[in-house]
Amino acid sequence: MRIPFIAGNWKMNLSVTESVEFLDAIRGKLPNPDEVQTAIAASPLFLETMLRNNQGSPLIISAENCFYEDEGAYTGETSPKALAEMGITHVIVGHSERRKYFNETDDVINKKVQAVFRNHMIPIVCCDETMGRRESSNHISWVVSQVTAALKGVDIEQARQVIIAYEPSWAIGSGKTASTEEAEEGCYLIRQTIADLYSDEVANQVRVLYGGSVNDDNANKILAQKDIDGVLAGGASLKPDSFVRLANFQENN
Ligand code: 13P
Repeated sequence: MRIPFIAGNWKMNLSVTESVEFLDAIRGKLPNPDEVQTAIAASPLFLETMLRNNQGSPLIISAENCFYEDEGAYTGETSPKALAEMGITHVIVGHSERRKYFNETDDVINKKVQAVFRNHMIPIVCCDETMGRRESSNHISWVVSQVTAALKGVDIEQARQVIIAYEPSWAIGSGKTASTEEAEEGCYLIRQTIADLYSDEVANQVRVLYGGSVNDDNANKILAQKDIDGVLAGGASLKPDSFVRLANFQENN
């Protein structure tokens, strides 16, 4: 059984103080992690403070990005080794904003996935899709190629742990969520790609999330889809109340 994974990606929002206020506000309100896992990905500036203020909570504190080398002369980058040492267990890799604004290529994303595994953490690999590609209907090969490239060199035991997020960039921050059919199609495609790369058994274990204008109104319909195991929410994860409602989606069923 795949445990649902409800994650927030704060991006470059909030402050250290606000991150602590958020943790205070959600304390005791998250589901049992045996039933639903929850995570917030935040700026590396907050992670240590968040980990300290999160003790005893089931919330997973995740990083939003890291570099692909463990250490060295890479001014301004975040070391995956340092993240792991700090106690971080999950790292978002390949978000469409990293691809778009920081020119991250499939090759760079693959190196980052490997760096995250090398440091015994779990990558949350994002897979993009633009409206232009959807309209020209080559979105299928695009999704398949991103997943295939991101997982190059990833062995079967690592592949079982990976979390993949289908995040069409036209749905991110636009208030225009993909229809449930479009979201399911993207997540199904990702699962089929995993089956082709590894096996049906691995594909049945891997959790695939949908991201793009998810909120507590539309989450239930999205999460009811067969191949969607969770969500990666941006805006809806910034307010404690809406994150708590998303996390407790099963109670709203
Ligand atoms: P929004 O939920 O704000 O559209 O952002 C989605 C996203 O990019 C999560 O990684």
